[in-house]
Amino acid sequence: MEAMSERVAGVRAAFAALYGGDPALWVQAPGRVDLMGSHTDYNEGYVLTMPIDRTTWIAARPRDDRQVRIHSLNLESGEAFSLDGGIQRSAAVPWTNYVRGVAKVLQDEGYALCGFDGLVHSTVPFSSGLSSSAALEVAAATLFNALCGLDLDPVRLAVLCQRAENTFVGVNCGILDQYTSAAGRAGHVLLLDCRHLTHTVAPIHPDIRIVICDTRYKRALTGSEYPQRRAQCEAGAAALAAITPGVRTLRDVSLEQLDAARSLFDEAVYRRARFIIQENQRVLDLAGALSAKDVPCIAALTAESFAGARDLYEIVVPQMEAMIAAMRCAPGVLGARQAGAGFGGCMVAFVERECVPAFGEHVRAAYQAATGIESAVYAVEAAPGAGLLAVG
Ligand code: GLA
Repeated sequence: MEAMSERVAGVRAAFAALYGGDPALWVQAPGRVDLMGSHTDYNEGYVLTMPIDRTTWIAARPRDDRQVRIHSLNLESGEAFSLDGGIQRSAAVPWTNYVRGVAKVLQDEGYALCGFDGLVHSTVPFSSGLSSSAALEVAAATLFNALCGLDLDPVRLAVLCQRAENTFVGVNCGILDQYTSAAGRAGHVLLLDCRHLTHTVAPIHPDIRIVICDTRYKRALTGSEYPQRRAQCEAGAAALAAITPGVRTLRDVSLEQLDAARSLFDEAVYRRARFIIQENQRVLDLAGALSAKDVPCIAALTAESFAGARDLYEIVVPQMEAMIAAMRCAPGVLGARQAGAGFGGCMVAFVERECVPAFGEHVRAAYQAATGIESAVYAVEAAPGAGLLAVG
């Protein structure tokens, strides 16, 4: 990855070329990887999650009028929109909808915004399950927060960004991505409680590195599969709530309760619910195992998580099977599983620190031999949550 100073110089030069002069402030928001807890967030469950050192920056300068001009260095496109008269979606430059959506939600909440000229630059890979969308939303909200003195705390900021994604962009995601990007802490994993919107932090054992293994495969179906999984979970929870006092979501359900009520569900709903209930418990168990470097426990929990994702939640595609096979027999691996929403994209491994180069070599070669696809394998650090960037 390019050094920070080179990145700053590149953004600064592009800003000058685009708008003239220098940015007045810089913000950053990280991508994320989930270490355990697939699809538990919209079931008000737990996730073990980590902000990564792949970030989205916005370099900006306030304007005197109510115009937002926003441009992406990566995509070489941009657009201007007014903060007045109802913010509309853009069909021509769809990525600006993340910024538009955040502006609209903030204004609908009564926050007074001001315009800016902004340049976006990101090192979060796009469409690969590391939350590049959330990083852009959270960066935009962080910018408005600083520029307009909104005084939003990270949790409120994350909730409003999630609302922008749900209501403006039209993706019915949970809180995981935005929360991690907004509230992360350098060097730590977050044990996130998605019902109470709180978290605890835990250091990662110094021997263990978190390694992203990108299948570089994206299935178009994801668009419909995600809301379908969510609807199945909600149907399961509603059926249980009707007969069990105190049940609101799958978070409140034990495996015993689920099994006792099995006849209420169709087979798919039962399998989805079973996975979520087990995955929630694995989140709590892995948090302890990771900081203690309990290797057998890490291996067992990650293997169970992947098996459940494949057999119960059905979010595994053949490329992920090939990747997990490559990861499991690579040097230094302690555990490996899916990440993000599934259906391709990135996966995650826990690897002995000194073995990371050999691990990467093995995974790349084995995955390419099996699929013909060139993957990307790289270690990530736990990065700080979103905030102002100190640029000299
Ligand atoms: C996507 C969504 C998140 C979460 C994960 C699966 O990243 O945006 O809210 O549901 O999938 O855990």
